[in-house]
Amino acid sequence: MQELWTAVDEYIESHLIPHDSKLDQAAQNTVSHGFSNHLAVAPNQGMFLQMLIQMNRCKRVLELGTFAAYSTIWLARALPEDGYLLTIENRDTHAKMAQYNIDQAALTPEVELKVGRAADILNNLDANTPAFDFIFIDADKASYPEYLELSLKHSRSGTVIVLDNVIRAGDIINPDNHKPSIEGLRQTFAALKNHPKLLSCTALQTIGSKGHDGFAIAIVK
Ligand code: DHB
Ligand code: MG
Repeated sequence: MQELWTAVDEYIESHLIPHDSKLDQAAQNTVSHGFSNHLAVAPNQGMFLQMLIQMNRCKRVLELGTFAAYSTIWLARALPEDGYLLTIENRDTHAKMAQYNIDQAALTPEVELKVGRAADILNNLDANTPAFDFIFIDADKASYPEYLELSLKHSRSGTVIVLDNVIRAGDIINPDNHKPSIEGLRQTFAALKNHPKLLSCTALQTIGSKGHDGFAIAIVK
């Protein structure tokens, strides 16, 4: 089925996703530096994230897990000139690649890349840091439960939180899979269930060029 999913994603992209040379360049840089672009969001998913930001007229965006900043560029594109995006990446080599891609994209809103563990950086943010309007959690899956709680600390009523890769080709329901990433995702679902700080929450499976996966989305109460 993968070939068909990829072909349909290409069809969607060719019709609905405007060509963006900076995004193409970022994807090319990533591959030419020896990283797999599989970890990046698909273009139609990038557009979906952008639309969530536009819908809510968000000005402050937080991203956990920059990887090579492909999704970062999508997120930043949705922000107004006076917008602000903080993206956090723990791995030095990825952060270097990310900063290069952010610089070459010449983005208008302020985009700040901090290098370190997302949990440490969020715990050490200035106490006066205003809440974020939109949060994209896409870092190590084992730490998602911790990232969810920290994200809630930096949220306001109405903040939208999207958690990437919560399905992992169905591994989350495979009782024989006890990888830390999968256990982390199961704990995340448990935390999202009836969370007192959330107004509503769901998860959607996705199939496409990136295989079978999905994302969860929550609105803060
Ligand atoms: C992986 C991580 C991601 O964030 C993603 O979007 C796809 C794959 C991974 O670790 O395999
Ligand atoms: Mg991801």
